[in-house]
Amino acid sequence: MRLTPAQLEQFNREGYLFLEGLFTPEEAGLLKEEAENIYKLDREEVWREKSGIARTAFAAHTYNEAHRRLGSHPRLIEPIQQILDGQVYMHQYKINAKAPFDGEVWQWHQDYGTWARDDEMPEPRAMNISVFLDDVTAANGPLLFIPGSHKKGVVDAGHDLKTTSYPLWTLDRDTVSKLADEGGCVAPTGPAGSVLLFSSLLVHASPPNISPLGRIIVYLSLCHVDNHIRAFNRKEWIAHRDFTPIEALDDNCLTEMLTETA
Ligand code: SIN
Ligand code: MN
Repeated sequence: MRLTPAQLEQFNREGYLFLEGLFTPEEAGLLKEEAENIYKLDREEVWREKSGIARTAFAAHTYNEAHRRLGSHPRLIEPIQQILDGQVYMHQYKINAKAPFDGEVWQWHQDYGTWARDDEMPEPRAMNISVFLDDVTAANGPLLFIPGSHKKGVVDAGHDLKTTSYPLWTLDRDTVSKLADEGGCVAPTGPAGSVLLFSSLLVHASPPNISPLGRIIVYLSLCHVDNHIRAFNRKEWIAHRDFTPIEALDDNCLTEMLTETA
């Protein structure tokens, strides 16, 4: 799958691109069912909110077949190879739950801020592509973006070890307010199966989910193979050390599983 020049132009300008309904409801349904099974596992890769409910499952592409396939899906890998101009490896794979009522905040941050400071990734030649496994609405804790903020480089940040169970380099309120004065603040929403890709420098956050509706999103953080991390400070299932280029599978790799299990 290739992005059009207009899509590339929009990505460069805004720092993100929303592709509504790129996966079918059936494909998203399969991945959601598997995500819910993963959250029930007692594994160190499944991090929990203070309430005990699942927050994030890391590295699920290494222990779940449907997520293994999503991790090499051509609809995700090819556009990122196109943007990053070459072969990519998986720096991080996570399934974020944002559970009904208890899903907690993600503070304002840039992903590359953490990858540079904690993992010594040389350049922001890496980015996220995410798939909505639930309908994402204004109600259930959508991602918030500051359009254009990816053009500011790495912004000053402090290491937040307190707010949630997951340590993150976060931006202070003044910085975020100034960026939003210029770029505004948006919350891309859409049905399950939609895809949101965004620059690793884009400033983003998400609010707690007080609604009764869950909001599962899978994130592939893909990095150009030449730009692999240099420091191994974090667990290998959080910041991967396997820099093998990803070979995209066939487009029907998930639908094949649906017919196998039918
Ligand atoms: C992230 O910024 O890495 C996750 C945010 C979210 O899932 O809401
Ligand atoms: Mn992030």
